[in-house]
Amino acid sequence: MSLAGRKILLIVSGGIAAYKALELVRLLRAENVNVHAVLTRAGEKFISSLSLQALTESPVSTDLFSLDEESRMGHIALSRSADLLVVAPATANLLAKMAGGLADDLASTLLLATDKQVLVAPAMNVRMWLHPATRANLVSLTGRGVHVVGPDEGPMACNEYGPGRLAEPPAIVEAIRSLLGAGPLAGRRALVTSGPTHEPIDPVRYIANRSSGRQGHAIAAALAGLGARVTLVSGPVALPDPPGLTVRHVETAAEMLAACRAALPADIAVCAAAVADWRVAEEAGHKIKKEAGAAPPTLSLVPNPDILATLAAPGPARPRLVIGFAAETDDLRAHAEAKRRRKNCDWILANNVAAGSGVMGGEENEVLLVSEASVETWPRLPKEEVARRLAQRIAAVFAS
Ligand code: C5P
Repeated sequence: MSLAGRKILLIVSGGIAAYKALELVRLLRAENVNVHAVLTRAGEKFISSLSLQALTESPVSTDLFSLDEESRMGHIALSRSADLLVVAPATANLLAKMAGGLADDLASTLLLATDKQVLVAPAMNVRMWLHPATRANLVSLTGRGVHVVGPDEGPMACNEYGPGRLAEPPAIVEAIRSLLGAGPLAGRRALVTSGPTHEPIDPVRYIANRSSGRQGHAIAAALAGLGARVTLVSGPVALPDPPGLTVRHVETAAEMLAACRAALPADIAVCAAAVADWRVAEEAGHKIKKEAGAAPPTLSLVPNPDILATLAAPGPARPRLVIGFAAETDDLRAHAEAKRRRKNCDWILANNVAAGSGVMGGEENEVLLVSEASVETWPRLPKEEVARRLAQRIAAVFAS
């Protein structure tokens, strides 16, 4: 799908990979994308604003306090008139400033002031990329909905080897295409459930579980990143709503099912929520009192509706692709295969949530992708990367 006429604000920060930003501009201009470039102080040490200006065919902004530029277009307007902000290369320093909300130059000010989606293409030395500070900044940024492309792994200008190389410009263009709704899932609707449910016992107590919602939220964002129209039905989580999608907040399994039904029809359903299997048969209307000497109350439980099985049941409203999760502590593969058949879903992503795996509430996940035809073992990956891989696999189904 064509990107012609779209507007990109490209921020080039100071790294050895800055020269590749010129190639990125060339590719975008070849598709008639309007590019306005901002070069940071450090960026100016690596490439000239003249080259950027020649390739973008537009003036290059560098200074927050340039009266001339300010009078022509304020920095807020600059960050709002674009369809998308792209930071390539994004240095460790600029990512840290973004994570911390600093605004001490034009680039960081624009990034703080924008109401548009932001795509960053990190590039830095491998040690800087792997440093816990950079890791934490990335977690914080992706949690807020910032999209990331790359970095690639390979030999680096600093004579080290590893992840940290700027993604190749064609890959950055593809990421831009996806974010601008021109991706492989453009026109497709996706429903994603995420987080735990809370099943009330009385007005102050509830039954819940340890799900953080990180995997489900990342999947919703990754599907949106490929151009799908996504409704995310989220139980109570401490995560911000990912930008660019519709979010329905629910508490109980019954509310989650109702919100899912309301989001149909959909082409894709991904049930990543850890729905409580049971709820208390009758919620007490008042706080249950602890009476001295009295026996503890008995809670009578009834099963919750199975949202995944309901969505996957044969019928005209069944999404073409229904994907469930299986969180297990033992016999992962056998349980996942049985669950896939029992719930009539197309794929199951099975993950081991045994104590000590660090998966529940953690940043990484190690999954098996179980379909009717095969079982694939994926390596241990950040949850965002699991989400990206899954979204790519889903897109491949719709491409065929
Ligand atoms: O049966 P179990 O809870 O292990 O199945 C897990 C899968 O089923 C997950 O995809 C989860 O989102 C979904 N599920 C559901 N509704 C339930 C229970 C589980 O959608 N009530």
